[in-house]
Amino acid sequence: MPQIAKFPGNDHRPSCGIASIGLQLPPLALAVEELANLRGEDPAKYTIGLGCREMALCPPDYGVVDLATGAARRALERWGGDPDRIGLIAVGTETAIDMSRPLSAWVADRLELSGAVRSYEVKHACYGGTLALRQAAEWRLAGAAGSHHGQERAALVIAADVALYEPGDPGEPTQGAGAVAMIIDEPRIASIQPLSFPWSEPQFDFWRPVGERFPLVDGPLSLDCYKRAASHCFQALAQHSGEATIENLAAACFHVPFPKMVKKAVFALGAALGWSEEHTALFFTDKVDPTMSWNQACGNAYTASLWIAVAQALAGLPAGETIAAFSYGSGFGAELLLLEAGVEAAAGAWRQDFEQDLASRESISIERYQQLRAGDPVRQRPPVSATG
Ligand code: CAA
Repeated sequence: MPQIAKFPGNDHRPSCGIASIGLQLPPLALAVEELANLRGEDPAKYTIGLGCREMALCPPDYGVVDLATGAARRALERWGGDPDRIGLIAVGTETAIDMSRPLSAWVADRLELSGAVRSYEVKHACYGGTLALRQAAEWRLAGAAGSHHGQERAALVIAADVALYEPGDPGEPTQGAGAVAMIIDEPRIASIQPLSFPWSEPQFDFWRPVGERFPLVDGPLSLDCYKRAASHCFQALAQHSGEATIENLAAACFHVPFPKMVKKAVFALGAALGWSEEHTALFFTDKVDPTMSWNQACGNAYTASLWIAVAQALAGLPAGETIAAFSYGSGFGAELLLLEAGVEAAAGAWRQDFEQDLASRESISIERYQQLRAGDPVRQRPPVSATG
């Protein structure tokens, strides 16, 4: 018997959701204070002004395929299902390594997954992982997944990125890397509410034209877009489900370009909902801030950022509690999802991936960081403003 979702307005729908989670962080890290000293900035600008702590970094022989494959392998092992039951592999990334061959093919190669599988890459800046997850959930809910030996097929969804800015760019302290893989199947860890709350507008806030190694960023515009998107999405949720749904959340997770950005967005959505500053501050402290400490240990991992926060929020959550997940991708597209913890959330088995990678990674010196970046081209033109 399919389980029944308990979200307001969706009581009659069968649920599907996250059956397994795997995380992967790269093997190097740099404290942002070290970068501040190199760039002649006050370290407090990065730690207090932006809310950053450490950035996860990849050595030269390690990249997005390693991150994606590592997270996927862990999620598959923890799931324990027959790999032949995987009928969809969708990888959200903005670290594409080929304009044609999808990242999912590299992952499938390494994991020896082939056969009756739809395998592809999803691109929409940091929103790509969420789109991949939504597509997988909707594929199941629509009845399109089909079955293998009488069991409904499951999906492997991966969000993986290496976020690097041009050396000296204002975004440099927010760099990071990481991957989250999820198996979409029975909602043992969390069910996904079928109804979600999207908002998109065509903008040039952050983009990377073909051939550019680093993104072009209009920082102030990107902050405005993110705040506007969050306000619209949360207002739509409040209108549909009532404000009590937001008040009763166990946690509210956000895409985390840097933690201060999330705080700004929470204050923007609080104002849009007519909350007092005190009320918003309490909401941020209770429901949002505690979801971001894993993000602070790895920096912005673009598509994976939100799902790292979700993985942290779900680990240890009692069954039946609901969390929100706000996804934002420049360009821009955003979507607010609700997830309800399942019976295996409380055990939080994937916490060990994060703890293991953190314990084994090397904290590098600023000299090593400079060596890592030595081959990176420095753009010979002024910072870009919106091109319209
Ligand atoms: N002590 C404490 N705080 C200090 C300080 C000091 N000595 N010096 C400065 N600060 C504070 C500033 O007051 C400011 O805080 P408030 O915004 O609260 O006033 C904060 O530090 C940052 O200072 P600046 O605004 O001067 O920072 P900046 O211009 O150097 O860079 C940024 C900020 C433009 C956002 C840059 O980080 C950036 O370009 N980031 C990339 C774009 C980005 O992340 N955008 C977010 C939305 S888009 C998105 O979400 C997609 C994505 O993942 C990239």
